[in-house]
Amino acid sequence: MNNPRELSKAQIAEVFADYRKNTAYRLDEPTEAQALNGGARVGISRKHESAHLHVAGEAAYIDDLPELEGTLHCALGLSPVANGRLTALALESVRAMPGVVDVITAADIPGVNDCGSIIHDDPILCDGQIRYVGQPLFAVIARSRDAARRAAAIAKSVASIIEEAPVLTPQKAHELGQYVLPPMHLNRSTRDGGARAAIDGAAHQLKGSLDVGGQEQFYLEGQISYAIPKEDGAVHLHCSTQHPSEMQHLVAHALGIASHAVQVECRRMGGGFGGKESQSGLFACVAAVAATRLKKPVKLRLDRDDDFMITGRRHCFWYEYEVGHDDEGRILGVEITMVSRAGHSADLSGPVMTRALCHFDNTYWLPDVSMHGFTGKTNTQSNTAFRGFGGPQGAIAIENIMEAIACKLGRDALDVRRVNFYGKDDNNVTPYEQPVADNVIHELVQQLEASSDYRARRAAVDAFNASSPVLKRGLSLTPLKFGISFNVAHFNQAGALVHIYTDGSILVNHGGTEMGQGLNTKVAQVVAHELGVAFDSVRVTATDTSKVANTSATAASTGADLNGKAAQDAARQLRERLAECAAKLHGGDAASVRFANDCVQVNGHSLPFAELVRSAYLQRVQLWSDGFYATPGLHWDGKAMKGHPFYYFAYGAAVSEVVIDTLTGEHKLLRADVLHDVGRSLNPAVDVGQVEGAFVQGMGWLTSEELVWHPQSGKLTTHAPSTYKIPTANDCPPVFNVRLFEGENHEDSIHRSKAVGEPPLLLPFSVFFAIRDAIAATGTPGCNPALRAPATPEAILRALEAVQAHTAGFS
Ligand code: MTE
Ligand code: MOS
Repeated sequence: MNNPRELSKAQIAEVFADYRKNTAYRLDEPTEAQALNGGARVGISRKHESAHLHVAGEAAYIDDLPELEGTLHCALGLSPVANGRLTALALESVRAMPGVVDVITAADIPGVNDCGSIIHDDPILCDGQIRYVGQPLFAVIARSRDAARRAAAIAKSVASIIEEAPVLTPQKAHELGQYVLPPMHLNRSTRDGGARAAIDGAAHQLKGSLDVGGQEQFYLEGQISYAIPKEDGAVHLHCSTQHPSEMQHLVAHALGIASHAVQVECRRMGGGFGGKESQSGLFACVAAVAATRLKKPVKLRLDRDDDFMITGRRHCFWYEYEVGHDDEGRILGVEITMVSRAGHSADLSGPVMTRALCHFDNTYWLPDVSMHGFTGKTNTQSNTAFRGFGGPQGAIAIENIMEAIACKLGRDALDVRRVNFYGKDDNNVTPYEQPVADNVIHELVQQLEASSDYRARRAAVDAFNASSPVLKRGLSLTPLKFGISFNVAHFNQAGALVHIYTDGSILVNHGGTEMGQGLNTKVAQVVAHELGVAFDSVRVTATDTSKVANTSATAASTGADLNGKAAQDAARQLRERLAECAAKLHGGDAASVRFANDCVQVNGHSLPFAELVRSAYLQRVQLWSDGFYATPGLHWDGKAMKGHPFYYFAYGAAVSEVVIDTLTGEHKLLRADVLHDVGRSLNPAVDVGQVEGAFVQGMGWLTSEELVWHPQSGKLTTHAPSTYKIPTANDCPPVFNVRLFEGENHEDSIHRSKAVGEPPLLLPFSVFFAIRDAIAATGTPGCNPALRAPATPEAILRALEAVQAHTAGFS
């Protein structure tokens, strides 16, 4: 299989049979044993609750909702300039465009012109200061979407702007000392002089820098808000958002009304990936302002290009490090500076940098460490959450250092990684002082090393490279540890509302949002399990601020942990009430009433669940309940950057093997083996789907998705799928062995499961470092390829050239 692009039909069939064998978890009802054991509904592979709707095109997204009579459409006029002062807007010509009903500027916002989620530095519409190409200057409301877009498109000819040179890169912002937030420092010293002394005193020193690009969320459903004016100044907003409560607050703030007058609803998103945590706010506010002003329903649905131009994405990071290590590669001291491209406003850049700093350690004990985080203020879109939320950017920096150390010592990178792993009983405290109490990385990596045949394949890769001058292979195993919880303790709470109707059917609302990740499926499983009923008896409906109040964003992978527990709390209260009622009617002890298989066992009788519900109703028993959960034991001191920010850690590791073409710079992932820790899975099929999806998405970030801002104009030039390359089905490795690690959460999480949404995004580090390994194979031992991410063909060629130059210099 010298050319990986030419697999024979038989090979392909074999590969897919293998893939199915390894990854297809059966979608089934409980086994007989499980059924006898109380009719377990958790721990079973269930299809996504909306799968039948997704595949039939019947799942309703916001643009699919029937439009109300008189609905108007909104589009935004965008700045053509990256930095400067807006001196005039000649809006008469916009108003004169066909179909235009109204044009709104910052002056027309009745409340506050701000949609900043934490720091209030984010104008909804331009306040005079031009901050980036794509910044919304005004909003057009027209009779059709097309008319609104045509009118908005003349923005560049109606705006008078005094231009200034933009600041575009984090390095430039750092040079100017221009940040959206004060610098952050996280240090730990085990000796006098801390990291500096540890580096200087070590047998070996290494210095370097690294560039890692950003990433567009590329949710398939773009940003959209549909605002419907209600009586007395209130508004009902359908919004594609991970954070309905935040949308409620931002809209109330922009309209200058109370939160009780704003209802925000979201049945599902066509993907969020962090991009709809804070950044759905601007569109929610504009739609709500227009709807209440015109007393007409107003829909604002972005075109894909506008979505790219207006909203932010994953922060790119630039790093400079210095490390001191011993002969085995053990890190004794390390100092790192991380500078992110925050964009024009703070948005979530602070918490993203905090998570980056708290994930630099990844799975490693770093005795003396000094980290500095800077959030560079640039004339670009305001960067925001994206799956991993800075965690991947923190961890990739230490993984890059592991590779550099391995190169220098001529050791296998896995061996260097292993000597640095956190210990089990000692050497297990993070730089921010939280103990790593549940460390399973040793067993997990050992299992994966064996199941992936790592050592034999290392030898095979070396042998292949020795006889292949143009194609070179590379292999890498990378581990991960990811902290679960919001780094802000009070966000770690959730509520739920469970109704049982008299026919025995159950309706659930909780504070989380569904974006494809299967949260509603898991929550329904938890409720069905608690009440011993069939999965199909439970329906989870739209997230709605009028049902569950003060919800947190569905983010930080905590959706099932928080909302699953809250729904369980509500369901348990109902079960207790029903048990009491059953005991009252049939005798016996309420505590010994059993709920399983749609039946209730009470005092020797068995009756259908629905029958007990009906009797309870007649007995005037309350058949709905709220539930609440707050994660225990969390605290965080943001100034000292110390505390116990995470409830627990999720772990995982992956082995990737790639081949690169040294003439074209192209690469192909040949095989990936994954072992990932989700504790005791609530739904293995959904979890494996999350692991596979995160792997491919993270691989896109590190290999093909490149963002390019024009160095003079500051315009993002990669703003559509034609120029911005996300992975396709063809990029999935032909051999993709994904397995879940056997184990359970040592904390009392929902059914001892672990969060899965973000951690596996770190697995494809192994793809990036396998590419780096293949590049290193072209040079002399000890050469240390300078590969930036994304490892596009151009980046690979550049790194190959640098290796050649280095090798020539030594021959
Ligand atoms: N999976 C799908 N299909 N679509 C998404 O938008 N978002 C990810 C992850 N998995 C996402 C996804 C992100 S960024 C997070 S934080 C989690 O899902 C959020 O959901 P959870 O907390 O319920 O896992
Ligand atoms: Mo996910 S980045 O926490 O929305």
